[in-house]
Amino acid sequence: MPHEVAARQIATNEEEPLYSAAMHPARRPFVGGNWKMNTSRQGAIDLARAVATGIESSRCEVVIFPPFPWLLPVADAVNRSRAAFGAQDLSVEAQGAFTGQVSAEMIVDCGATWAIIGHSERRHGLAESPELCGAKLRRALDAKLSAVLCVGETWEERSAGRTDEINRMQLDAALAGVPAEALARIVVAYEPVWAIGTGRTATVDDADAAHRAIRRFLGNRYAPAAVEGVRIIYGGSVNAGNARSLFSAPEIDGGLIGGASLKAAEFLSIVAATELATASTRS
Ligand code: 13P
Repeated sequence: MPHEVAARQIATNEEEPLYSAAMHPARRPFVGGNWKMNTSRQGAIDLARAVATGIESSRCEVVIFPPFPWLLPVADAVNRSRAAFGAQDLSVEAQGAFTGQVSAEMIVDCGATWAIIGHSERRHGLAESPELCGAKLRRALDAKLSAVLCVGETWEERSAGRTDEINRMQLDAALAGVPAEALARIVVAYEPVWAIGTGRTATVDDADAAHRAIRRFLGNRYAPAAVEGVRIIYGGSVNAGNARSLFSAPEIDGGLIGGASLKAAEFLSIVAATELATASTRS
């Protein structure tokens, strides 16, 4: 379907997906493994090797996010494989007297190509403001990193009917000053805070609705040609048992996996489930 037709649909029916996944085989399914503050050095190497071997013939884009000290050992472990890796955060500063911080350039120097920005454990656990997340996103993009930009509401906000408002506010602050060309290097992760590490996932319908709204917000800022290819993934208590049904929703382009990314076999079955789920909505 040509873009103009899709654009007309947006104008006439806000409830419909802006751009159906079937139109965009280029929206390659994405599965990220956010290891958070877990793994030993050897554990990280073993896990990275197992992931790299297990995804050799996968259609999904698979990116693992080890803790900072393991970026270099993981770089070795995934060398010459299809697995990419990235950092879980970065400093908003380029360099200098910033004790304990890690710059985008250092991350790039380790061979990483991705960074997570705005994870709720930083927004809520470390009081990172939406504006700081935006500045970090621009730093990542300036350093030629790709970024997983996390957004999502707390349970209190959801209960008050504010899910879309919160996602929109976080996106607006993060994307201020980000040009349309950069969207190709951004994956948006919808991670409802109440679903992270709780064993409680959003329903497929709720996640799909939030993803549609996120794509609408992107459509308010950018032209359809830029928005249609942006992958929007879901995170929050995804496991091998629920991945296939969650990711079969047309607006869910994959997932950002926490706890279940720490066991190679489970993570690989999530990758396989993502591939199966998205194949049925995208071909
Ligand atoms: P869990 O999969 O452990 O809920 O964590 C999700 C997450 O925060 C990924 O970034």
